[in-house]
Amino acid sequence: MISQDFLKAIAPDRGISDSELEALLLAIEGHSTSDIAKQLGIREEAVRKRLGEVYKKFHITGFGPGKLAKLQQLLVSLYQEHQMRSREQREPGEKNARSYQDWEEVPTVSAFYGRTQELAALEQWIVKDRCRLVALLGIGGIGKTTLTAKLVKQIQGEFQFIIWRSLRRTPPINEFLDDLLLCFPHQKTDIPSNTDSKISRAIEQLRSSRCLLILDDVEAILNKGIAGHYREGYESYGELIRRLGEKPHQSCILILSLEKPKEVALLERENLPARSLQLSGLKAPEAREILKSKGLPEDSEWDTLIKLYRGNPLALKIIATTIQEFFAGSVTEFLQYNTLVIGDISDFLEQQFDRLSELEKDIMYCLAIAQEPISLPKLREQFFLPVSPSGLLEALESLRQRSLIEKGQDSATGFTLQPVIMEFVTNRLVEQVCEEIATQKLDKIQLLRNQILFEIPAQNTLKNLETRPIVTRIKNRLFTMFRNEKLIEAKLSEIQSLLQDKSPLEIGYVDNNVRYLLEQFKSKLTSPLKEEQL
Ligand SMILES: Nc1ncnc2c1ncn2[C@@H]1O[C@H](COP(=O)(O)OP(=O)(O)OP(=O)(O)O)[C@@H](O)[C@H]1O
Ligand SMILES: [Mg+2]
Repeated sequence: MISQDFLKAIAPDRGISDSELEALLLAIEGHSTSDIAKQLGIREEAVRKRLGEVYKKFHITGFGPGKLAKLQQLLVSLYQEHQMRSREQREPGEKNARSYQDWEEVPTVSAFYGRTQELAALEQWIVKDRCRLVALLGIGGIGKTTLTAKLVKQIQGEFQFIIWRSLRRTPPINEFLDDLLLCFPHQKTDIPSNTDSKISRAIEQLRSSRCLLILDDVEAILNKGIAGHYREGYESYGELIRRLGEKPHQSCILILSLEKPKEVALLERENLPARSLQLSGLKAPEAREILKSKGLPEDSEWDTLIKLYRGNPLALKIIATTIQEFFAGSVTEFLQYNTLVIGDISDFLEQQFDRLSELEKDIMYCLAIAQEPISLPKLREQFFLPVSPSGLLEALESLRQRSLIEKGQDSATGFTLQPVIMEFVTNRLVEQVCEEIATQKLDKIQLLRNQILFEIPAQNTLKNLETRPIVTRIKNRLFTMFRNEKLIEAKLSEIQSLLQDKSPLEIGYVDNNVRYLLEQFKSKLTSPLKEEQL
C-alpha cells in the first residue's frame, strides 16, 4: 500500500494540483471513475481530465486501464525507494537494504523437498562467482519455478532489487523493457522509445545497483522446433540476453526455461560469467515425500513408480492423485494395470510434444517404433528423406535438452525414450497410423509415409519378418475400429490403389508399410485381445 501522506508529499514536486490529487488518491484506492465523480460531486469527464493531467505529470503513456496500473507500479517503487532512504538515514550502517522486491508472480512454496546440491550450486554461481547470466533448464513440471522461489528466499539479502517476470503471456520486448525500467526509481522519466536504447538503459540500471532479475517461462518466446531460437517478433529478447551476458554489470539474470536460449550456450562457450543447470528429477527419498504428502500408503513399488516417472515432481503429484482415486492408493495395483499415461499426464505430455519440430517428432516416433535403444547410424537409416548428420545431431541435442530422450543403458551410443514418454508416443503413433488408414486420403497420410514400421530387411521380402510390438498394437487397434478383417484388408488395398502413378517422394514408405500390414493380416490376429493392447 502506498501511504496517502507520501502521495501528498510528492504531489507539489510533480506540479499536481489539489483537485488532481483528490482524484488520484481515490483512483489509487481502486474507485471507479463514476464513483470518484460521485464522491467529488463533479462530472466523470472532469475526473478523466484530472487523472489525464496526473498521468502526464508522471510521464505515463499508453491507453486505457493499463495507465493506472503503470502509475500504481511507479508510485509503489517511488514509495519503496523513499522508505529505503529513510531507513538508511535511520540506520546508516545497514548494508544491502532491500529497496524493491517485485515478485508477485512467484508461487508460494508450501512443501519443498531435497535439491540441496542444486541450491548450493546456484548460490555459488550467483552470489560467490557473480555470474551475470544463469539458466535453469528442464522439462515441464521438474521444479524450476519452485526451486528458484526457494533460492530467492535464501539469497534475497544479497540484492537491492529482486524482479520476477514470467514471459508466459509473451509480452512484446518494448512492453517488457518499459515495465522493467519502471521498477527502478531513477528511471521513471524519459524512458527511451527505441528498443536498443531501452536495453542500454536497463544495463545502466543493472550496473548501478545489484539486481536479481528472474525471467520465468522463457520457452514461451522461443520457437517451437529446434530448441533455443526465438519466435518471430521476439528476436530482440535474444539481443537483450546477449548484451546482459556480455556487458559488465553487477546484477544477475536468472532464466527459467524448457530450452536453453542460444545466447546462453554461446556465452558459456566463450567463458563469460554465464552458467546453466539442467534440472533432473527428485531423488528417491524426496520423491517418496511427494507420494507421502498425497496420502498414499507406503508400498513396496514406490521406488519403481518414481523411476518410471524419473522423479518428476509434477508427474508424481498427478499420478499419485489418480492412484488415490482409482486404485485406492495402491501403487502395486496401478502398475499391474499396465499403463503409465493416464488422464492429466497425457495433457501434460501433449504440451511438451507439441513444441517439437517435425524432425524431432519423427525421431520420437522412430524410437517408439523400435521400442529399444537405437544407434545414431541406424536412426539415420530409418528416414525416408535423407537427413543431414548435423541436422540429426542438432535435433537429438534439442530433444536431450528437453529431457525427452535418453541414452540407452545397454548401448553406449543408443538413444531411447523414457518409459512414460515411450508409452505416450506409442499411443499417439498407433492412433495416428490407424486414422491415416481410416481416412483413405493420401494427403492425410504422414506417418505411414515417413516411418517404416518394420526392420528394413536385407532381401526384398516382407515375409517372415519379426513382428514388432507396435505392429501388434496397430493390428489390434484396427480390429477394434473396423471389427472385420476383410474390411481392414480392403482399406489397406484401397490405399495401395491410391499410390498408382504417384512419385517415389509421394509414396515414401506407404507402399512398404501397407504391404507389410496386409502380410501381417494374413497371419492371425493375437487373440484373445487384451484390453491394454487396444
Ligand atoms: N523440490 C520440490 N519439493 C516439493 N515439490 C516440488 C518440488 N519441486 C517441484 N515441486 C512441485 O512440482 C510441481 C511442478 O513444479 P514447478 O512448477 O516448479 O515446475 P517447473 O519446472 O517450473 O514447470 P514448468 O516448466 O511447467 O513451469 C509443483 O506443484 C511444485 O510444487
Ligand atoms: Mg515453472
